[in-house]
Amino acid sequence: DKGGHKHFMAKEIAEQPRVIGEAVRHYLSGDGNSVTLPGDGLDFTKIDRLTMVACGTAFFACLTAKYWFEQLARLPVEVDIASEFRYREPPIPGGTVALFVSQSGETADTLAALRYCEGKADKIISVVNVPESSIARESDLALPILAGTEIGVASTKAFTCQLTVLLMLALKAAEQRGTITPERQADLLSALRALPSSLNTALEQNSAIARAAHKLAEAKDVLFLGRGLMYPMALEGALKLKEISYIHAEAYASGELKHGPIALIDKIMPVVVLAPRDTLFDKTVSNMQEVLARGGKVMLITDDAGAAEAAGEAWQTIVMPHVDPVLTPILYAVPAQLLAYHTAVAKGTDVDQPRNLAKSVTVE
Ligand code: M6R
Repeated sequence: DKGGHKHFMAKEIAEQPRVIGEAVRHYLSGDGNSVTLPGDGLDFTKIDRLTMVACGTAFFACLTAKYWFEQLARLPVEVDIASEFRYREPPIPGGTVALFVSQSGETADTLAALRYCEGKADKIISVVNVPESSIARESDLALPILAGTEIGVASTKAFTCQLTVLLMLALKAAEQRGTITPERQADLLSALRALPSSLNTALEQNSAIARAAHKLAEAKDVLFLGRGLMYPMALEGALKLKEISYIHAEAYASGELKHGPIALIDKIMPVVVLAPRDTLFDKTVSNMQEVLARGGKVMLITDDAGAAEAAGEAWQTIVMPHVDPVLTPILYAVPAQLLAYHTAVAKGTDVDQPRNLAKSVTVE
C-alpha cells in the first residue's frame, strides 16, 4: 500500500517525521534527560575504540556517526566497507567494539564481517531494521531503528533512522565518558525531540525541489560537495541519484576540490553544494566560489542564514529550516532524497525497483 503516494519511495520519504519521532522516543529515558539502551546496554568507559562496518547507504550512516562519536564522545572510530574490511584481515585489538549497520540485517558482506569479529572484538553491536535478522541474532546487542518495512530499493527512512539511533548511541557514549556537559546533552536531546517538526518543514520544500530536479534531469553528470557532516551526506546524495535516475554522480569533500575534481567544472555539469550555516560554512562557500569562478552551475542546499549570505550567485537554492549543526545530516537527507526521487520521476525510470539492483544483497 503506497498510502496515496505514486511510489513506495515517496511514501517512505514522507514517513520520516513519524518514524524518527518514534525512534527518538524509544531511546529516550523516562525523564527525557538521557538515552536508554536495551538489555544490559553498553559501558563506553571500558572501550578504547569503535570499528564500524556496513555497505552502501548504511556505510554512509557509519561515516556520519564517526564525526559524532569522535566529537561528542572523544572515541576513536574506524569505518569500513564490509567487503574491504574482511579481506584485509584487520587486527582487532582488545577494547574494540565492533558495530554493524544494516537495514535488512542480511547483507552477506556485513554478516561475514561480523563473523570475522566474533571472538576478537570485546562486543558486537548492530543497528538493524529487522530484529529477527541474522545480523541482529548474531550480535551481543542489537539496536532496532524502528523504521518499519522499507520497500523502495533506494534506502531513505532506514538511513535517517540509522542516523538517529547512532546519534543517540554517541550521546550515551558521551554521557558515560564525561565528554559532554549536561546542558549540551539536554540541548541535543531537545533538538532530537523537535526533529519531526523540522523534518516536516523540510518536506514542505517538495515542490521547490521537484522544480530543481527537472533541471537536474537534463544532466549527464552531477557533482556533490560537502564538508564535515555534509561530506557523507554528499556521498549519500550522489548514491541516491545514481541508483534511481542513472545519472552519473560523484561526491567529494569540498576541500578536495582543488586536488583534482575541479578540472571537471564547466558550464554544463551541475554541482550540488550541501552547506548549512555552521562553522564550516565559510570554507564551503569559498569552494563554491571556485566553482562559480569557472562558470559552474551550483545548486545550493542551505538554511535561511546560509541563503541570505550565499544564494545570490547560485543557479538554484533549496532552503532548509535551521537545526543544531549536529543534527543536520538527518535533516539534509530529505532534500538529497527528494532531489534524486524527482529527478528519477522526471526521467521516467523505475523508482522503486531500479535496474540491476536488489533490496537485500545476500550474495557477495
Ligand atoms: O540492508 P543493508 O542496509 O545492509 O543494505 C546495504 C546496502 O545494500 C544498501 O544500503 C544499498 O546501498 C541501498 N540500495 C542504498 O539506497
